[in-house]
Amino acid sequence: MKQKTAFICQNCGFHSPKWLGRCPNCGEWNTLIEEVEEKVTAEFSFLPSEPILYEKIKEAKRERIKTGIEELNPVLGGGVVPGSLVLIGGEPGVGKSTLLLQVSRDFAAQGEGVLYVSGEESLEQIKIRGDRLGLQNEKLYLLAETNLERIIARAEKLNPQIFVLDSIQTIFSSKLSSGPGTISQVREVANQVFRFAKKNQIASFLIGHITKEGSLAGPKALEHIVDVVLYFEGERDHSHRVLRALKNRFGPVSELAIFEMGTRGLQAIANPSAFFLKERPTKEAGSVVICTIKGSRPLLAEIQALVSSTLFTGNPRRMTIGLDHFRVAMLLAIIERKLGFSFAGEDIYINVAGGLTIDEPATDLGVIMAVVSCLKNKVIPADVTVFGEAGLSGEIRSVSQPLARLKEAHSLGFQRVIMPQGNISQLDKEDIPDMKLVGVKNVKQALSVIF
Ligand SMILES: Nc1ncnc2c1ncn2[C@@H]1O[C@H](COP(=O)(O)OP(=O)(O)OP(=O)(O)O)[C@@H](O)[C@H]1O
Ligand SMILES: [Mg+2]
Ligand SMILES: [Zn+2]
Repeated sequence: MKQKTAFICQNCGFHSPKWLGRCPNCGEWNTLIEEVEEKVTAEFSFLPSEPILYEKIKEAKRERIKTGIEELNPVLGGGVVPGSLVLIGGEPGVGKSTLLLQVSRDFAAQGEGVLYVSGEESLEQIKIRGDRLGLQNEKLYLLAETNLERIIARAEKLNPQIFVLDSIQTIFSSKLSSGPGTISQVREVANQVFRFAKKNQIASFLIGHITKEGSLAGPKALEHIVDVVLYFEGERDHSHRVLRALKNRFGPVSELAIFEMGTRGLQAIANPSAFFLKERPTKEAGSVVICTIKGSRPLLAEIQALVSSTLFTGNPRRMTIGLDHFRVAMLLAIIERKLGFSFAGEDIYINVAGGLTIDEPATDLGVIMAVVSCLKNKVIPADVTVFGEAGLSGEIRSVSQPLARLKEAHSLGFQRVIMPQGNISQLDKEDIPDMKLVGVKNVKQALSVIF
């Protein structure tokens, strides 16, 4: 008998009886792949089959196991919860295996039983990485295997406290005939590991590759299955990596950790503001330091703008790196309409230094000031930092957590802050660090203060 097949979107799991160039559900192109349709039985044997009264449910003890990387614990909500399933997604080469090998080493050193399973690297390759990270005689179990049922059988026998699977796209269940990496396989693997983790109360980590092209089944399709989703991001040309939580059933998702990738592996950056400002030019026009919030932490970063005449008669360029393109377009329109500059025939480049990505309206004032500083060729003094959201009428609006921003700026030696007037009125006089605060109500006022 011919097996029934369907075309399944590898990005979102949408089923279609025929091939389509574009997935009608998620809009991605070329993501539909023919797979054998299979019924996967979802058995949740670790759950009681009878309804239970709420008041009869035993209070669950949620003791967290702390990782050896202090900065990582808040991202997990205080540590990893036994029985939870954590997905760590990231682009190829960002450092996922490195991070989890370091974390595994630290767990093993604390006396936790750890099993690290790799479906994509040989034990020798892992050892090479281990050597680089300084691992020696670690009490850490490794297994190179791609068959999920065999992996789970070995894991149940070993019964570790921590279980790592690297990566979900290389592991396959023999219950399905689709190849590893297809969305059916990826889901089946995640479901089985989820059950394994809950049943045995083992804290489990899944590594997942994300490709921008979506050619491999995206961990996106797993986000609802797992308990915690962390994303590991970095730019190829920069050494820093940002780990942040996207979902956490056991904690907040506002925290993030910043690491630096070096020869000895990933090192947490204790003072990210200083790290991102360390190469700042202090006597150049077009540069300004902004005070932003990343995760729940304040962070100082440098915004750079460059305006130069468009060559020939081509369309003027508008390039932004690290900021939202549409938001920057809006800010440029505000500069033209409210401040009377004209960008006709000018290319504009705006960049967040150090390869950071910032997604917060409080950067608006900084972008505007960097552009105007470049246009006027006037330097913004090195001891000034700014924050504030701009509205379409050119008004500067209050932003969240003004005090945290001020304290961070103060601790890095900044003397003057240009900020929304509305925020100054909210602050308690006693809390304000010893620095000069200049409240502004609109962009015009902000510029007259500085230029
Ligand atoms: N000697 C070294 N010095 C500095 N960085 C290094 C060194 N060796 C490797 N790296 C960094 O480590 C990265 C690879 O780390 P790792 O293998 O953990 O990434 P990954 O996310 O697991 O990748 P993959 O998608 O291939 O599994 C490289 O891209 C490189 O940036
Ligand atoms: Mg890897
Ligand atoms: Zn889709």
